[in-house]
Amino acid sequence: MTATNQTTVLVIGAGIMGAGIAQVAAQAGHPVFLFDLREGAAGDAKRKLGATLDGLVAKGKLAAETVAATLANIEPIARLDAAAAAGVVVEAIVENLDAKRSLFRALESLLSADAILCTNTSSISVTAIANGLEHPGRVVGMHFFNPVPLMKLVEVVHGLLTAPDVADRAFELARSWGKVPVHARSTPGFIVNRIARPYYAEALALLQEQATTPQVLDACLRAAGFRMGPCELMDLIGHDTNFAVTRSVFEANFGDKRYVPSLIQREMVDGGLLGRKSGRGFYGYPEGTPPLPPSACGPVPTARNVTVHGAGPVAQALVSAASRILESQGGLAQLAPDSPWIGIEVDGARLMLSDGTPAHEVARRGGLSDVVVFDLPLCRPVAAATPLAYSVHAGTSASWQAAAASWLQALGYAPQRMQDAPGLIVARTVAMLINEAADAVQQGVCTPEGADAAMKLGVNYPAGPFEWLAQWSGAGVIAVVEALDAAYRGERYRVSPWLRRRAGIWEHSFGHACRDDEIH
Ligand code: NAI
Repeated sequence: MTATNQTTVLVIGAGIMGAGIAQVAAQAGHPVFLFDLREGAAGDAKRKLGATLDGLVAKGKLAAETVAATLANIEPIARLDAAAAAGVVVEAIVENLDAKRSLFRALESLLSADAILCTNTSSISVTAIANGLEHPGRVVGMHFFNPVPLMKLVEVVHGLLTAPDVADRAFELARSWGKVPVHARSTPGFIVNRIARPYYAEALALLQEQATTPQVLDACLRAAGFRMGPCELMDLIGHDTNFAVTRSVFEANFGDKRYVPSLIQREMVDGGLLGRKSGRGFYGYPEGTPPLPPSACGPVPTARNVTVHGAGPVAQALVSAASRILESQGGLAQLAPDSPWIGIEVDGARLMLSDGTPAHEVARRGGLSDVVVFDLPLCRPVAAATPLAYSVHAGTSASWQAAAASWLQALGYAPQRMQDAPGLIVARTVAMLINEAADAVQQGVCTPEGADAAMKLGVNYPAGPFEWLAQWSGAGVIAVVEALDAAYRGERYRVSPWLRRRAGIWEHSFGHACRDDEIH
């Protein structure tokens, strides 16, 4: 039986997720049974939905008939055996393996043999939920995102024994509900909750070593195109929830250091600083994120012997800025496009695009004193003052510190000085997101396209990790992760073998585009 919109859907659990799932199924025309263990909860959820939809009718966003049809499709039931005709079950009960297992066992004897059993679990193995069933192949994950009616992504999660046609039916069902389904293998965190870990983890690691402040982190990552910075986002999600997900991914990976939770976050949870919901997290609420103080840089001082090093968009932007500035000073910039680094050199002092190496290490290796490194400008500056992080080698003269900041300002950035940490903020975060996504692809969790869609739709990233990779370069990402590994040692910053292999192919491809099937 294929799941057409004639198929009766049984949604179990009428909480925040179950109510949303019932709504989208009913809106797509399915007859929906809604059941909750707590007496009256399913009826309450339907009434609450009615009130929300009526509000949308009053605002002219929905037709009254559409709302009436949706509500008519939802039948709260007090006993599960009233739903024996259901062809599809979506379970959204408490996040507990035993509860989910025993529910599915009870359903197996109630429903017809071809009914499919979908779980909305966000962290439990789909394989484990199916264990003990007579037909474990009929269990599949349908991982919706909150709020269900608005979020397009559904991870269709395959357990070890999930039958391919069952996964296909869940996939088609999600599509027919107006969602964008993405296939995922049942591994800790699935796609989104796994690949997103570094977005929080790298911010927390930088805070732990006091490299910068939540405000600067948030401002720089927002400037890179993220809708919210990591600290304000953790405040929104709730540190208790975010910490619980991090712990679950860490523990499910047998304590892999890559996913190690943060002491900072634990302390915040222990102290009740849960974010918006408790009135205080990194920021106080309702005030929220305070604006950054304006940066006060003077004009670029008169310069002789200016050389722009390297090629690519950042070098190009530097050439334009240098030409503009030197024209007014009666000078001319030299170009060194074949240079191994990108940036400008003024009378021997360097302002360099970060390749991951901290400024002090660049200075040590080159026997230099005036070294400033700046973060990856993932987006062109959009406003006059787009925040961008930079750091300074301790031996750098005060005059070059000031001049380097002025150069960054002349490029359209509001320079944000931070401690000399490898990969600064954006390069470090994005490199680790790409690295995590590459590992997920290597482990068969998802395809590159699936990862891109999942991250854009599930957590609103401005681009997918593989889109960033195409824009940046495999070698560039590897350099940043290697610099992190060199600085911190340990197992956390391991370059994904997938990335290394792919970068190797790029280096030897002599300009030919590689297809993914050449790489796997
Ligand atoms: P919730 O606490 O709002 O709702 C759960 C509902 O299930 C409650 O009404 C409870 O009475 C009912 N329930 C508990 N045990 C039951 C049982 N054995 N039979 C029938 N009903 C039972 O929880 P929420 O947030 O809706 O989460 C539900 C599931 O969705 C969990 O597995 C969670 O991990 C997952 N999920 C949650 C997301 C979120 O952002 N809240 C996002 C994606 C997945």
